[in-house]
Amino acid sequence: MTDQLDAMIKAARDARDLAYAPYSKHPVGAAILTRSGHIYAGCNVENAAYPLGACAETGAISAMVMAGERIIDHVVVIGPGDVACTPCGGCRQKIREFAPAEGCKVTICGRDGQVLLETDSHALLPYSFGPDNVHEMQDE
Ligand code: THU
Repeated sequence: MTDQLDAMIKAARDARDLAYAPYSKHPVGAAILTRSGHIYAGCNVENAAYPLGACAETGAISAMVMAGERIIDHVVVIGPGDVACTPCGGCRQKIREFAPAEGCKVTICGRDGQVLLETDSHALLPYSFGPDNVHEMQDE
């Protein structure tokens, strides 16, 4: 395992420790590695009005954007158990927004940080709709 992946897994685990998930009892942490080499983390934040809850990936993306960064090279997600906590459909689209053309790596870890799945944004969201689709329409 690379030092960088280790650092991402640690950041995701630390974020998971801060998760606010009293309703699902399913704490999740996410860490994003950007093109500049920085890591941004997020946790899920639920709400008594259940549909308003936010996923860990969403929080990490917000932290990245607030830091002025836009290119995601790698995402690590860590759930509370040993069934792979793969990103929901909405988060796949949110990751795709900031993934480079070649896609970004996505690594899913289990409870203790062990790697359960290594995939990428293209595999998670094939034939996706992204910024270029919108620009194409605007150019017409
Ligand atoms: N959740 C995430 O934060 N990320 C994922 O990749 C999947 C699910 C959260 C949403 C909700 O707070 C809880 O996990 C149970 O669905």
